[in-house]
Amino acid sequence: MQQKTRLRVAVIPVAGLGTRFLPITKAIPKEMLPLVDRPIIEYIVEEAFTSGIEKIIFVNSKGKHPIEDYFDYDADEIKFAKKIERLKDSHDIARAITTISIRQHSPKGLGHAILCARPAVEDEPFAVLLGDDVIDADPACTRQLIDVFEANGQKSVVGVMEVPQEATSKYGIVSGKEKKPGLFEVDRLVEKPTPEETPSRFAIPGRYILTPDVFDILEKTNPSVGGEIQLTDALQGLADTSGLLAYCFTGNRYDAGDQVGFIEANIRFALKRDDTREGVKDLIKQIAKDIG
Ligand code: UTP
Repeated sequence: MQQKTRLRVAVIPVAGLGTRFLPITKAIPKEMLPLVDRPIIEYIVEEAFTSGIEKIIFVNSKGKHPIEDYFDYDADEIKFAKKIERLKDSHDIARAITTISIRQHSPKGLGHAILCARPAVEDEPFAVLLGDDVIDADPACTRQLIDVFEANGQKSVVGVMEVPQEATSKYGIVSGKEKKPGLFEVDRLVEKPTPEETPSRFAIPGRYILTPDVFDILEKTNPSVGGEIQLTDALQGLADTSGLLAYCFTGNRYDAGDQVGFIEANIRFALKRDDTREGVKDLIKQIAKDIG
């Protein structure tokens, strides 16, 4: 019997323009904006790490080098990190994971960004975590999806969450047959459908486990919504051939690439931390009083 490949590779696309966060993204990648005092990207990498990922491929673009620098370390820094508890976690992760950067020369869409990672992924199944979607979950969202992938004959899986009808136009939406509570065999995907035309309210916020046959499909995928090569279109190809599952993960998801989502994530993570919880609680009470 052929040995199954353990899933150990993740692709994190960070090559988008971050136009929703202009003007700061003229000079700083949005993935480096802080949630309390750690950059967004560290939460994403930590999720990959705690899910058992050993190799991360960043798909990046011009001006994104601070992300590579952040996961860099040297002997002096490690000594420093040992003294400062706050730096320790970041360094432990940086040392345990291999990071590779691959360039997307122009922002042709998420599907194209994933295709750019092909030479580094080679012929293995891999996870995709979007660089601005933060999911606070235990077990980690990617771990939940890997478990579904392993328990279902290594079929590709997308993480989904239910969104209000009026929000469907912000996401890729899936529909299909429910196999078990929260687990669907996907038959249809639509990128950013209007509330009137959406086939369901199950949205893909940015977590995927994909089999490598998606690359051949992406090679043949034409630009569609927004003139971009959409991953959602290639996922339809997977659903039609090797199959695709959708799993309703448990956890709280924040769109940190959007101003309100970013502010919410900051408050929620500050409320989870012993050193910031009380101060932020007092602040929220004061603000609520001020605004009535
Ligand atoms: P988004 O559309 O959310 O991010 O893409 P964006 O393009 O950076 O931001 P806005 O919409 O202009 O504000 C989802 C993910 O796909 C990546 C982004 O970096 C983000 O992680 N992406 C998108 C690429 O890597 N390349 C692309 O061509 C498009």
